[in-house]
Amino acid sequence: MKRHLLSAADLTRDDAELVLATAQEMRSLADRPIKKLPALRGRTVVNLFFEDSTRTRISFEAAAKRLSADVINFAAKGSSVSKGESLKDTALTLEAMGADAVVVRHPASGAPHRLAHSGWVRSSVVNAGDGTHEHPTQALLDAFTLWQHLGQGTRSGLDGRRVAIVGDVLHSRVARSNALLLQTLGVQVTLVAPPTLLPVGVESWGVETSFDLDAVIPQVDAVMMLRVQAERMNGGFFPTAREYSRRYGLDGRRMATLPDHTIVMHPGPMVRGMEITAEVADSTRSVIVEQVTNGVAVRMAVLYLLLSGMDVEGETAP
Ligand code: NCD
Repeated sequence: MKRHLLSAADLTRDDAELVLATAQEMRSLADRPIKKLPALRGRTVVNLFFEDSTRTRISFEAAAKRLSADVINFAAKGSSVSKGESLKDTALTLEAMGADAVVVRHPASGAPHRLAHSGWVRSSVVNAGDGTHEHPTQALLDAFTLWQHLGQGTRSGLDGRRVAIVGDVLHSRVARSNALLLQTLGVQVTLVAPPTLLPVGVESWGVETSFDLDAVIPQVDAVMMLRVQAERMNGGFFPTAREYSRRYGLDGRRMATLPDHTIVMHPGPMVRGMEITAEVADSTRSVIVEQVTNGVAVRMAVLYLLLSGMDVEGETAP
């Protein structure tokens, strides 16, 4: 693995499979009464969150603590960032405090790259979501969840499986990271969205696209629903919420057209009644809560693989 995890494209197939296998080991820990390993004792993980988050921040915190690392949580709200401090000065402060890994979520696409490659910090940088760009650990936890349901015990893993990613692809870092990682793992990905919510240049992603949810879902092994990210929209991308739900929402009637083994996923936070109905979210096909549990195991695997190979000087061991 590289020293930083900034993009799902940083991961080769071997890297991704190593994370999944390591996450499997970490996952078994969750069922034990004492959920802790000494692997990162004495290491410091800083969670640097410039954007709202529930699952991802708590998940990284739980992951680092279960590996016995010291965790410092930093939220931009309530810090000197609201007084105008720059990313650079925040980074220098973290460096001075001896961070070994910095987990960063930022509204600007590319902020984690800046942090990793500016020379401001010597620590490993993990992208926990940058603008509309990428969210690689979400893609890893989604791949892990898919693998547990569809690929485990088979020699080919997820090869040839079909996954539909549905909704606001344009504003979704989850969709981009998943499209990259799932293809690395041999999955056939179809993006389903209204034309206004597909990014320009999507042809270069190497995936199929469709505007017709009803035509796609009877063919797939998993449906991944995305939230409509109203906070990133500056105009009207569809006529009304009702119209959007009717064409691109997953409800009980549509769910009935899925093959028996097909699972329903969502990265959270869900807007029940918009992209997914409560009936679907709470159904036996839904693996949404499992995704959250798996998130901790996958982030433990990522932190472990990035940090355990490092010597005390912060250099990656040969
Ligand atoms: C997503 C995000 O923040 O990119 N959520 C998450 O991390 N689990 C998706 C979203 O906000 O809709």
